[in-house]
Amino acid sequence: MILTIYTFGNAVLRKVAEPITKDYPKIKELISNMLETMHHADGVGLAAPQVGLAIRLLVIDLEAFREDKPELADFKMAMINPEMLEMSEEGASGEEGCLSIPGVHETVERSKVIKIKYLDSDFVEHIDVFEGFKARVIQHEYDHLEGHLFTDKVSPLRRQMLKSKLNNIVKGKASTSYKVKSAS
Ligand code: NI
Repeated sequence: MILTIYTFGNAVLRKVAEPITKDYPKIKELISNMLETMHHADGVGLAAPQVGLAIRLLVIDLEAFREDKPELADFKMAMINPEMLEMSEEGASGEEGCLSIPGVHETVERSKVIKIKYLDSDFVEHIDVFEGFKARVIQHEYDHLEGHLFTDKVSPLRRQMLKSKLNNIVKGKASTSYKVKSAS
């Protein structure tokens, strides 16, 4: 089932999301719905707050890169209650976008390597190290669980230039190919 994506300006995107337990209802169905929603919107990552749920759950699927970057293509996962353990001081900059901030793409500085603890969809714990683009996507989605958005990380000058675009998203004037809930 395709879910509605909450866009910039909705309070749920600014909440610190809550951890969930094994008895959270229909978690596999939710993960499947989030992946379907993300694929439908041509995204590569989606965090639960983006579908209006302030819980610590994110999904990622880099299958869309099969042609350009085949080494990324098999990276598909859900992370429940992720906890960032280490973030490298060495950074890397790259372009990002977000399904909750349609039409905005900005260069963002992220840690190059991260170490993260999380539960998979069976609530089995993993500790893994990721780097490069995978680390970037995870950091972007993880930020959503902390109530942070990638536009927070751009320079004050760039943010000033984005102001009218962001205001239009708040007012529901941004055009998207997928169903959204704007803040007003
Ligand atoms: Ni995002």
